[in-house]
Amino acid sequence: MLYFDHSATTPIDADVQSLMSELNQNIYGNPSSTYDLGRKAKHAIEIARRQFADSINCEPKEVIFTGGGTESNNMVLWNVVHQKRKHVITSSIEHPAVLLVLKELEKFGVEHTIVSVDKNGCVNPDDIKNNITSDTGLISIMMANNEVGTIEPIKNIANIAKEYDILFHSDAIQMLGKLPIDVKRLNIDMMSFSAHKFYGPKGVGALFIKSGITIKPMIVGGSQEKNLRAGTENISGIAGLGLAAEIANRALDQNFTHLLDLENHFRNRIMEKNVDLIFNGFDKNHLPGLINLTIPNISSDLLLIHLDKEGIAISNGSACSSGTISPSPVLKAMGISDKKNLESIRISFGKHNTINEVNKLVESIRSSIITIQKNST
Ligand SMILES: Cc1ncc(COP(=O)(O)O)c(C=O)c1O
Repeated sequence: MLYFDHSATTPIDADVQSLMSELNQNIYGNPSSTYDLGRKAKHAIEIARRQFADSINCEPKEVIFTGGGTESNNMVLWNVVHQKRKHVITSSIEHPAVLLVLKELEKFGVEHTIVSVDKNGCVNPDDIKNNITSDTGLISIMMANNEVGTIEPIKNIANIAKEYDILFHSDAIQMLGKLPIDVKRLNIDMMSFSAHKFYGPKGVGALFIKSGITIKPMIVGGSQEKNLRAGTENISGIAGLGLAAEIANRALDQNFTHLLDLENHFRNRIMEKNVDLIFNGFDKNHLPGLINLTIPNISSDLLLIHLDKEGIAISNGSACSSGTISPSPVLKAMGISDKKNLESIRISFGKHNTINEVNKLVESIRSSIITIQKNST
């Protein structure tokens, strides 16, 4: 299998896997229990909290572990129900784990404004400023987009939020392990993360909440996670997240260079082959290793099927439900026509990919296009 869909998920790092297996087998105590096995489990969680905090430059007490990125986003957004100011500003290229939550929150008296993006998928901070009302209590803009990789100007937006005394949240789920994240320097109030995007386990995430900010729990029960997220902790998952974050941070420069090399190689190689295509999004200010491109007159679904047959995994932004293929809302928001939208693919490289694999990918894309074109005439 040639896997080029690391924005969807990543394989678990071998060291993370062995730590998790060890904990699952031997440290099965309940972290709330006071005897030795419980204390050991609690200790594993606190090590992970320190590892994670170090990787984003915050204090361990500012980290809450959750059941994934979706849950972290939900915690922040559902909290608006309890806030005095109930208007939220967000953007048209956010993940459904933000946009659909806001839609749901309309039923609970929370209103929102969605600002548009430019042709590269970038938010204009002035648009945020112009939509602030006396009722705005939260601004939520992602750090980097999952479909085109655009990096958003969140430092500027965070500064605007501070100027108006509004909470600022950012979904940084695609960012960790690709570029440095420093929540203090960026002036962030809350930030969401998900372990399976940086070679950690699925179903475990983290939420950074700056000291001094109080939010209400979404899941209520026991007093775990400082009363913010009830339920017996997923010890091995949390420990896996912590170690994965530490490894990602340690290898940040090396990973960045590797992903960029693969990406540049792909771009050069596919251009050399004279494949007719359009790259979507920014050339520069984007996540390394993530490429979104349109191949005119070639349906992305068909192309994905051809590549799958050759053991190659890439993705397209379109969601297929009940037999209907819908265009990606992100590409739509960038002004890409529905036709081109359905001819667009996403390739996201990872740390284990090699130049040789990229060559095979280019070759397979080219031969698949030729076959599709032949079959359609
Ligand atoms: C930007 C972004 N936000 C949220 C999520 C959801 O994260 P999780 O799969 O951990 O719930 C994803 C994952 O696809 C994502 O890419």
